[in-house]
Amino acid sequence: MTTEKSILQGKHILIGVSGGIACYKTAELVSKLVQLGVIVDVVMTEAATRFVTPLTFESLSGRGVFDSQWKHIDGHAPQHIKISQCADAMLVVPCTMDMLAKLAVGFTNDPVSLVISAIDLSETPVLLAPSMNVTMLNQPSTQRNLTILKEDGYRLVPPEAGWQACRAHGAGRLPDLTTLVDALETAIS
Ligand SMILES: Cc1cc2nc3c(=O)[nH]c(=O)nc-3n(C[C@H](O)[C@H](O)[C@H](O)COP(=O)(O)O)c2cc1C
Repeated sequence: MTTEKSILQGKHILIGVSGGIACYKTAELVSKLVQLGVIVDVVMTEAATRFVTPLTFESLSGRGVFDSQWKHIDGHAPQHIKISQCADAMLVVPCTMDMLAKLAVGFTNDPVSLVISAIDLSETPVLLAPSMNVTMLNQPSTQRNLTILKEDGYRLVPPEAGWQACRAHGAGRLPDLTTLVDALETAIS
């Protein structure tokens, strides 16, 4: 653990990972949170496991990764309920265009949206860090879903503008680690 002080120390944070190119940055975020003394549980969609393996997150968090709703990683109680109940906050990072749509409608057919379905947003903050190509971000459906999700009580960590993996420049880039940690600290305090 670092000597750096954080209000997140000793807190239980869920990190939801959906299948965007920025998944590799989530690995560094998990490491940073662990160094701050945070208990981190990682939940992944199947698409996310194509970008970064659960093994990476297991190693960094020192805990089992919930990457299938059909597999028990701890005990035999329904996993998504148990995981959601222990959380002080959850951050979905990166949050894909697809995940935004699922959450806006209420689908629960992947581990991330399923865990979120069992969280009461009035008690436990759920933050979404959308990250995608600028055209995807500007789609009317994406903008509409962002508005709906804000009204539903989700907290958005707005994407930044800059270089994108698809070699475009524009809005949709995942904010840096400090911004993501700050957003969690604000949500917890
Ligand atoms: C190489 C590659 C990079 C992708 N990057 C992104 C991304 O940054 N953001 C995004 O919203 N979707 C991205 N996608 C599309 C998602 O992976 C796709 O919509 C997937 O179904 C998302 O599933 P999930 O939301 O269940 O994780 C990418 C796809 C590929 C093949």
